[in-house]
Amino acid sequence: MAEKKQAFVTGYPIKHSRSPLIHGFWLREYGLQGSYQAMEVAPEDFASFAKTLAAQNLVGGNVTLPHKEEAFKLCAKLDDAAKAIGAVNTLWLENGELCGSNTDAYGFAANLDALAPDWDKADTALILGAGGASRAIIHALKERGFKTISIVNRTLARAEELVRHFKSDEVAITAHEWAEADALVPSAGLIVNTTSLGMSGHGENQEFPLDLSKASHQALATDIVYVPLETGFLKKAKTAGLKTADGLGMLLHQAVPGFERWFGVRPEVTDALRAHILEDMAK
Ligand code: ATR
Repeated sequence: MAEKKQAFVTGYPIKHSRSPLIHGFWLREYGLQGSYQAMEVAPEDFASFAKTLAAQNLVGGNVTLPHKEEAFKLCAKLDDAAKAIGAVNTLWLENGELCGSNTDAYGFAANLDALAPDWDKADTALILGAGGASRAIIHALKERGFKTISIVNRTLARAEELVRHFKSDEVAITAHEWAEADALVPSAGLIVNTTSLGMSGHGENQEFPLDLSKASHQALATDIVYVPLETGFLKKAKTAGLKTADGLGMLLHQAVPGFERWFGVRPEVTDALRAHILEDMAK
């Protein structure tokens, strides 16, 4: 019998991760011998954890906060997305060497491909927030040929740092204070909330501070937050008549490339998988 492949998700803390549910669902769905476990690793222990995957009988796994930048530094090989984003969320071994990818940009784009296939026909995007998730989304938008990307952030310096990191001849990227956000709405074909505003426990009952009444009716609004599924931002976008895509899809799609690497089957994001995660979220 083939040896049971063991993969992991690590973070600190990690108990809220939904990744074990996603990969566990696929392992059962495809009848594979394998496991996927949450493993809490403190920041000071992460380097030794990552360098000894083979000794721990692990084929690879996912990395979440606060280890994504450290994982990036430890990899001997990185794919283009990881290099561009500067953070790693997926690890595996090749000839004993630690390899890393960042599948968040893929997950973001694949989710919109599934829900709103023409989303990348727009060429102007407005991104709210300048944290780690924002980096992955900017990379995805550049890959999909967006020509104008405006980044709004409470702390302007963080948005300016992303502008320096991602600027190129192909795309105009600019940083803005929140006070300028309303004025950037009408020209945007895609509006993405990457801030934690509206996340459960972060003012989800307050009105989202952006005027969407002048948004283009073709515009698509999407949030990376998925608890709650309908964030204040998405609620407001729906009221304004925009198309919307919630954040759960990105979480499900970003898991696909890792599962394929570790277990050898490219899994599908299905309604049944989504229902399985929603059922857990309702608990
Ligand atoms: P992630 O890696 O998930 O993107 P993060 O790096 O903590 O998380 O970034 C959170 C984002 O939400 C940041 O853009 C943050 O703005 P700052 O850079 O100014 O901190 C934004 N954010 C969080 N709380 C906010 C608030 N009350 N108002 C506006 N923006 C907020």
